[in-house]
Amino acid sequence: MPPLCENPDLKGVLPPDFVQGYASASYQIEGGHDTDGRLPSVWDITLRAQGLETGDEAVDSYHLWREDVRLLKEYGCNAYRFSVSWSRVRPLGGKDDPVNEKGIGYYNNLIDALLEANITPYITLFHWDLPQPLQDRYKGFRAANKAAIIEDFVSYAELLFERFGDRVKNWITLNEPFVYVILDAVVLNSECDFDNDPFTVAHNQILVHAHTVDLYRRKFQPTQGGRIGITLNIDWVVPIDESQEAKDAADLAVAMALGWVGGERVKGELSSILKKRYPQLPDFTPDEWKIVKGSSDFFGLNHYGTKWATGKIVERGQVSGFQFFGAGVEQVAEKDGVPIGRRGHNGHPYTVPWGFRQLLNHVHKQYAGPNGLGIIITENGFAIQDEADRTLEQIVDDKERQEYYDLYITELCQAHKEGIKMEGYLGWSLLDNLEWNQGYAPRFGVTHVDRANGFKRTPKDSTKVLKAIWQHTIKSD
Ligand code: NOJ
Repeated sequence: MPPLCENPDLKGVLPPDFVQGYASASYQIEGGHDTDGRLPSVWDITLRAQGLETGDEAVDSYHLWREDVRLLKEYGCNAYRFSVSWSRVRPLGGKDDPVNEKGIGYYNNLIDALLEANITPYITLFHWDLPQPLQDRYKGFRAANKAAIIEDFVSYAELLFERFGDRVKNWITLNEPFVYVILDAVVLNSECDFDNDPFTVAHNQILVHAHTVDLYRRKFQPTQGGRIGITLNIDWVVPIDESQEAKDAADLAVAMALGWVGGERVKGELSSILKKRYPQLPDFTPDEWKIVKGSSDFFGLNHYGTKWATGKIVERGQVSGFQFFGAGVEQVAEKDGVPIGRRGHNGHPYTVPWGFRQLLNHVHKQYAGPNGLGIIITENGFAIQDEADRTLEQIVDDKERQEYYDLYITELCQAHKEGIKMEGYLGWSLLDNLEWNQGYAPRFGVTHVDRANGFKRTPKDSTKVLKAIWQHTIKSD
């Protein structure tokens, strides 16, 4: 198949208002960890305590945001997804705690600069960096008293709607709640009651999301006219063979990632697959259901790769919490020595474009389509591990990443052509950044950042490939 830019069948296949650009997250890029009144989030404390690389300086977007906006413009983007650091705008976190005007000012400047450059801001309210004081007060999302986290979160959200909502029209409440459940269980806390805590964290996140959307729809949407949703993630899972075990295992893994925090939200019911396997899954009250059901104006989806489910159930205790919450099913990327897709760099997900296509079909059929929701890919991208062995020219010439983007966006275009409403695509990520507890070695950026030399930013060639892809595939007015 010719590269997407030369594919005549996909020329102008996307609508003129298709959203395209890159995504990022506050703790991963900002730095300035104690500047202008910011206090620690759970990540500052956890990474420091574990002796890991921290986001103290990250890639210094707190100071270099003008340069970042300039790059987005140069790359031809019409949108940028970033998150607000709760610890910067309300450092102690709680609804009665003071607002930090310097933190608000930082985001005001960023938003204004983006709009000036004709780039639409997409704000994620919560990309995992909970203020540490809320973890100390009531264990954050694990709170036994759910009213505490709901009230604090909704009040924080209200602050952002009030201050930025005149200019920001696209909101994402939570990033990857399913992954946050795992992080809460195995990274951010030293202890986890696996029979209960993960269910509480998921449940409270759904409620926080629903209450935030409810507030926005009642108080802000009528006058501000924006829209609001959530970002879910899944690495697609398919059965390795025809066996019933493999099929059931794949269904369970998918239900875990999408059904748990997504199904009930859209369909108004708990996933039957999950209820069967986890009888302790908490239900919502009738009043809660009223605000949970239908609480999204679009379907935000993060996706990176695909694996096979073997059908083997992995018992807790034998595996890390992460695999356990991958629904306790074994997932592999090779069968008889043959990999599922093109091998990623140093153990990163394999390039499996057909898996992305199957996932889009699934999301459309199960969730988005019947509710008339368009799908926005809020993250998709390719990491190259530790580029220390590469020269800058080799880093810039990022062929593996270019190929990944080309193949995945081809699938997106085909899906759209066949009737799946694709509204946008935001690549992960604008800049090389802190990959949480894995440090700075996995480099997802389309822009190289030299942390040893003033955080110097150098565009990689995939930025040119993506720009050409959008010029070819988005219909001009
Ligand atoms: C998903 C997360 O939202 C983001 O923070 C992370 O860096 C990327 N995936 C890559 O793993």
